[in-house]
Amino acid sequence: RYEITAREAAAEILPGVRTPIWGYEGIFPGPTIESRRGRPAIVRHRNDLPVPTVVHLHGGHTPPESDGYPTDLVLPTRGWSGGHHSMHDPAAAITEGTRDYTFPLDQRAALLWYHDHRMDFTGPAVYRGLAGLHIVRDDEEDALPLPRGEREIPLLITDRTFAADGSFDYPSLDPSLTRVPGVTDSYLAGVLGDVILVNGVPWPVHEVSATRHRLRLLNASNARRYELALDPPPPNGPAFVQIGSDGGLLESPREHGSITLASAERVDAIVDFGRYPVGTEVTLVNRLGAGSTAQVMRFRVARRERDDTAIPARLSEVEPLRREQAVVTRDFSFRSGRHGDRHGWLIGGRPFDTGYVAARPRLGDVEIWRFVTDLHHPIHLHLVNFQVLSRGGRAPGPLDGGWKDTVDLGPGEAVEVIARFDGYRGRYVFHCHNAEHEDMGMMATFETV
Ligand code: C2O
Ligand code: CU
Ligand code: CU
Repeated sequence: RYEITAREAAAEILPGVRTPIWGYEGIFPGPTIESRRGRPAIVRHRNDLPVPTVVHLHGGHTPPESDGYPTDLVLPTRGWSGGHHSMHDPAAAITEGTRDYTFPLDQRAALLWYHDHRMDFTGPAVYRGLAGLHIVRDDEEDALPLPRGEREIPLLITDRTFAADGSFDYPSLDPSLTRVPGVTDSYLAGVLGDVILVNGVPWPVHEVSATRHRLRLLNASNARRYELALDPPPPNGPAFVQIGSDGGLLESPREHGSITLASAERVDAIVDFGRYPVGTEVTLVNRLGAGSTAQVMRFRVARRERDDTAIPARLSEVEPLRREQAVVTRDFSFRSGRHGDRHGWLIGGRPFDTGYVAARPRLGDVEIWRFVTDLHHPIHLHLVNFQVLSRGGRAPGPLDGGWKDTVDLGPGEAVEVIARFDGYRGRYVFHCHNAEHEDMGMMATFETV
């Protein structure tokens, strides 16, 4: 059982500067929750903010009533007289002040995260700070000789712009304006910041021993993509050994020179600082950035230490879903376009509409979903983990392995994913995880029946 209150607070993020935030428990990121597989977590969320909220556990295998459907509002404790879309959604479950979210967590060990998911306002709410980590652990993972304790480091990476008064500079400060044409146009592609924050700290410096470390990377940025690399690269051996993905451990480790992460994607990677001489400063750089956004953080290799860890050649079992198992194939396009008099981001030519169900998978069925895009869109499905079957008509990419819940589509690229829709009946969403695209309509409902 946990109780988390979302409230306004001030944080010192830039030295000597006071930044107003919206934070779970008044902090950014929110408190990290650690759970064990199969042991349900009940989280009572209380909303002391001036606006409604909705909480979603990203990556959670969660019954629909606790999944944070975008109109399942938790109204502010101080009352709310503003309008909301839930009024037009007869199925919306609205609570006043608090809501108990039940997460069965009957799922593999993985790095999940929780964040706001209110219809049309996810971008500004998350930007103001409404995001936190939820780590699920299990016996299988605990039995592996991986780095742990202070050598296991979750890195929640975001970008923010600060206004002159120290506040987060979201292009539309009045969230009620985010639907006005012309205002949305100024950040149609998504909101980018010029300060990189890791766990809420700008470009931190972290001391490490010359041993293997487990970096649990999450791109929690609204819209920015990163290609993470080490500078200098280790003198011998790969920069990163990936051991896990969105949905937990891979079957076997994979080596990468760099790791590309779109919004909401996670990569669990081992970096061996033992390959560097003591005294080295290793910068985690972002090859897709320029100037201030080309650097993420630094590691200072401070001392030698004994290292008993290892990366087993076999990490876990990942049952491959086969094309022949699929009983349905569905196609969805993710493109920008006009809808009525507004420019928006559309799935299958439509903006998000709570009254429209885009897919009704039968519980237990395996389905193939084919996505095509115009530009970069990280596509996320609630409820299920999937496997990437193909990318651009070819084999999946180097970072597509294991169980995923978010897949990064490149411009003009087609991707096929395969999933088994099991667990719970009810309505869920899938959407682009560029938060501004999501707010501007690139989301749709699916219902497991
Ligand atoms: Cu991380 Cu539907 O969200
Ligand atoms: Cu999600
Ligand atoms: Cu998008």
